[in-house]
Amino acid sequence: MKIPFLDLARLHDSIRPELDAAFDRVVKGSSFIGGGEVTAFEAAFAEAHELPAGVGCGSGTDALALALRALGVGEGDEVIIPSMTFVATAEAVVHVGAVPVIADVDPSTLLLDEATVAAVRTERTRVVIPVHLYGHVVPFDTIRTWRDSGLLVLEDAAQSHVATWEGELVGHAGHAACFSFYPGKNLGALGDAGMVLSSDPALVERARILANHGRRSKYLHDELGWCSRLDGLQAALLNVKLTHLPAWTAARQAIAAHYAERLPDGPLVPWTPGAVHHLLVARVPRREAVQAQLAADGIGTGVHYPASLAQQPWLVALGGAPTPHADQAAAEVLSLPMDPLMTDLEVDAVVDSLERALASTA
Ligand SMILES: Cc1ncc(COP(=O)(O)O)c(C=O)c1O
Repeated sequence: MKIPFLDLARLHDSIRPELDAAFDRVVKGSSFIGGGEVTAFEAAFAEAHELPAGVGCGSGTDALALALRALGVGEGDEVIIPSMTFVATAEAVVHVGAVPVIADVDPSTLLLDEATVAAVRTERTRVVIPVHLYGHVVPFDTIRTWRDSGLLVLEDAAQSHVATWEGELVGHAGHAACFSFYPGKNLGALGDAGMVLSSDPALVERARILANHGRRSKYLHDELGWCSRLDGLQAALLNVKLTHLPAWTAARQAIAAHYAERLPDGPLVPWTPGAVHHLLVARVPRREAVQAQLAADGIGTGVHYPASLAQQPWLVALGGAPTPHADQAAAEVLSLPMDPLMTDLEVDAVVDSLERALASTA
């Protein structure tokens, strides 16, 4: 049995008539930038998170940069980010002129925690960006401790659409939350797209102006902005896919539960209820050998991420404290197939193959 890491073609085939109709609507209506589909998607995605406002933009990376600028973060400000994340979290900080300060992560959850942030906090720290990595949520009580101590908090929710912490949706603990709709994400566009959500509509409005050439009216530009807008076409496709997100999220949770049942004392990175399982990650010694054996059985895997931020060449050049927990995780993490249409039989085949590979590489 061949089991790809993620079968986007199968997912899109399952809703193909709806996607085709959305494409048709946009081409006929010619609303390619802005328009009804964008407004509807911004409202619906905010509503899905029980938040009052959201602004679409060109990518999750842009969403982070726009939110930082809308929060007034810039030159000289230090922004704490976890060492275990996609590089975009760091890029956004540098692109607004601020200084990324890399913190280590909890050795088990691979998320930021109070101790790791406290270890790198200085009097110049203005922001912390907790990343809800793999769709696992950074505890909201920890996030609220940071807020209460005077820090701005930006949730990097690129991998955690509609995830919850003790029943509360992502985006409710920080000042704003940023999402990516990169195609492979839990809610993916058919291209690049992103969004900033916040409980503060004024913050969202500021991000909207910045994302649209700093304009308040068509040809009057109050401040330096840039061009990062959500396309009408992507919004229309996302509107379709958003109606399926509750079912896809429930499916991911059931698949993760099945993996956990089959690997009870096993190697999975732990999560709390409400996680949405963008990735299903195990920690394995001799990863390359295990990965090769799975590949020989026709099973696709990924590595998120093979290097910590502290090990990325351009970030090494900035200096910073070592992050041994993240570095160790980067050497061991292996992402197993996770796709909302996976069957129990497919999960069983992955686990059987993994168990054989672990036994033979021990
Ligand atoms: C944790 C995290 N932050 C930020 C991003 C950036 O999103 P995008 O690729 O849409 O720019 C991603 C996505 O790849 C991500 O996984």
